[in-house]
Amino acid sequence: EPVVALVVAAGSGVRLGGEVPKALREIAGRPLVLRSVEQLAGGGCTHAVVVVAAGTEDAFAAALASAPVPVRLVRGGAERQDSVRLGLDAVAADPSLAGCRVVLVHDAARALVPAAVVARVIAAVQGGAPAVIPVTTVIDSVRQVLPGGSSVVDRATLRAVQTPQGFDLATLRAAHELIARDGVAVTDDAAACEHAGHSVVLVEGAREAMKITEPLDLVLAEAIARADV
Ligand code: CTP
Ligand code: MG
Repeated sequence: EPVVALVVAAGSGVRLGGEVPKALREIAGRPLVLRSVEQLAGGGCTHAVVVVAAGTEDAFAAALASAPVPVRLVRGGAERQDSVRLGLDAVAADPSLAGCRVVLVHDAARALVPAAVVARVIAAVQGGAPAVIPVTTVIDSVRQVLPGGSSVVDRATLRAVQTPQGFDLATLRAAHELIARDGVAVTDDAAACEHAGHSVVLVEGAREAMKITEPLDLVLAEAIARADV
């Protein structure tokens, strides 16, 4: 039975800057999107659906030519949640993905996610969890800014949310339909499932799965990739 990686790569990467879409930027000579698909396949995904911006299909097809699993490209939308929804529609409509129950939604920008994290997410969904997210502890002390001051937040109770997030496909599709109907903006797919009344299971993420967002992140990612940390 297929385990589908839905990789969202339709953003432009304004905060990173540069001439090409962020997912086509390279770490040690290999594009972020290719690295993401490789890591997802290494953790057990059998197929990839990659959501890309209009007009970038040829460049993404070239970047993914050596991908270790079959890749289908789908056109994305204005916001990340639009791109996810369009990708889910394509997964559900694709005859070669018939019978798929487990879908992992992943930011192409988290290119160095360890295969072990991917495998943990898949195992939890296959074990019956409707929505699974990898998380990490928070290193910095955190303060909440309030009108007229600020207060300490207990860092021990906080977790940073990563991807891939794993779902039962039908559950996630229904959740996306619901948030579209209710006009709710969500930060991630687990939040969409929560809006639909499902509980979210946490598994251990990894620092290497940080989202490459700003130029400093790309410097760090290069160092991680070259050192093979
Ligand atoms: N994404 C997407 N469709 C959008 C917006 C974002 O598929 N309309 C994807 C990005 O390609 C990225 C992931 O969602 O892999 C996380 O988004 P982010 O890191 O914010 O990437 P960008 O939106 O490209 O970057 P920025 O916000 O700096 O422009
Ligand atoms: Mg963005």
